[in-house]
Amino acid sequence: MRITDTSDLWWKNAVIYCLDVETYFDANGDGVGDFTGLAQRVDYLSELGVTCLWLMPFYPTPGKDDGYDVSDMYGVDPRLGDHGDVVELIRTAKDRGMRVIIDLIVNHTSDQHPWFKEARKSKDNPYRDYYVWRSDPPPDTSDQVVFPDKEDSIWEKDERTGEWYLHHFYRHQPDLNIANPKVQDAIASVMGFWLQLGVDGFRVDAVPFFLNDLGMSEHDKHDFSEPHAYLRALRQFLQRRSGDAILLGEVNVPFEDQVAFFGGRDGDELTMMFDFVGMQNIYLSMAREDARPLAQALRDRPLDQISPDSQYANFLRNHDELTLDKLTDAERQEVFAAFGPEPEMQLFGRGLKRRLPPMLGGDPRRLKMAYSLLFALPGTPVLFYGEEIGMGEDLDLPGRMAVRTPMQWTDEPGGGFSPAPASKLVAPVVTGGYGPEHVNVARSRHDPDSLLRHITLMAQRYRECPELGWGAFEVLDQPHHAVLAHRCTWDEASMVLLHNLGPEPVVVPLALEEDDGGTDLVDLLQEGRSRLDERGRVELPLDGYGYRWLRVMHPGDRRLP
Ligand code: NOJ
Repeated sequence: MRITDTSDLWWKNAVIYCLDVETYFDANGDGVGDFTGLAQRVDYLSELGVTCLWLMPFYPTPGKDDGYDVSDMYGVDPRLGDHGDVVELIRTAKDRGMRVIIDLIVNHTSDQHPWFKEARKSKDNPYRDYYVWRSDPPPDTSDQVVFPDKEDSIWEKDERTGEWYLHHFYRHQPDLNIANPKVQDAIASVMGFWLQLGVDGFRVDAVPFFLNDLGMSEHDKHDFSEPHAYLRALRQFLQRRSGDAILLGEVNVPFEDQVAFFGGRDGDELTMMFDFVGMQNIYLSMAREDARPLAQALRDRPLDQISPDSQYANFLRNHDELTLDKLTDAERQEVFAAFGPEPEMQLFGRGLKRRLPPMLGGDPRRLKMAYSLLFALPGTPVLFYGEEIGMGEDLDLPGRMAVRTPMQWTDEPGGGFSPAPASKLVAPVVTGGYGPEHVNVARSRHDPDSLLRHITLMAQRYRECPELGWGAFEVLDQPHHAVLAHRCTWDEASMVLLHNLGPEPVVVPLALEEDDGGTDLVDLLQEGRSRLDERGRVELPLDGYGYRWLRVMHPGDRRLP
């Protein structure tokens, strides 16, 4: 069947925007962002070109892992609002054509979750089996902890019953025993609940951790020998309840291991996955001013082994440390040297706690090129709030909190995020050169050269060019190491995209397989077109840190130039 509309698989050319309600916009003035505030900013997001919101955890929580420690998966943190406010937000977003996905944390709960409180009461408590326990002293697992600054084992002894429980993350986040059918049902029921309230899917936290039987196999009576059968079941359940909802998985594993998480050619597990490997190679390429590591990462995507309906989510920055764990030690040191040489800029020995603009010394040419690249890469772009205005970080804040400061709306005290006094704010507003006096939405809206205007244009063009999200892509041969030249093609639509990661202007010679004559490359970002010669050759000038989006137009082509 040939009927395919780009809206069928909406995630394949969505513009996703991640935010944390508590740091976005405070409507009631108590110093904490809320759902009512977010609903008031939906038009801003719509104008930016966002088509899907990803809400970080907003559930009741002791707040020891910024909300990823959930004490009630059905609830709403009362500081942010109630279920009515969530529904209003979802309704408003939908009215502007925007979808909403939310974090789903399957791997663990908070130790304050009622299940864990019960489970630790006694070895025969009915909830005991919701978590993973061992009775013999654990071996050294210090190499398996995710947060080496705080933990040195993935097992914690629970004094009351004298057994150890599994926790891949912090000790206050016991891992759920996902092999237990009761836990599986409980997770499905949570998904069903939020889907019924109108969400369009889930960003699934820490997938390889809960899909691993490590720690469980020896200690659990349930059979979990086929973990992927569980992920398939989760996807089936999702799709039964909502045909076009998605699972966007956090799966930071090498390309060859990603195939299984997509469900291979069947595409029946995660709908989308973040391209952590690609992201890390973007930074390596930017540090070296050499596009070849990125080109290689793009070529290495196992596209022939996954379903054409599956999708990669591209990102430059997220809410965690900018992890560089998939680079070699030497490569990671290169990125550290270029973008975060001081120890206080680094985290866990594997990443950076900075946002992009300070890393690039605030250079507007490099920043615009980087965001052009984000939207031009094959896949679906994901923005982290504040990226669109070039927010910086607060290195004085501990760990990953450095990049989770309040959104900067105006140059007022509190950055227009909240009228509450600084002492009441949920997190301090950035100070200094990247503070709200210099970096804010109001100012960016009135500045035709702002990053905000640039990213808005990129989002618009990306949406107009389904070949970027849907198409087949190839890295084009050309002689400049600093340049990434690639082409995306979907049906009749085809584009050539050029990005110069270095400061020197160049002329990029390309040879395209176009032999019908009269083919033009039409610039979608500025005036100009270049005609291919009869052998399909063309030479394209490119500024230092320049970028070009060129539509391949054949005679009679009626697409918009
Ligand atoms: C991944 C999340 O992105 C991170 O912020 C969190 O700390 C861990 N999962 C544990 O939930």
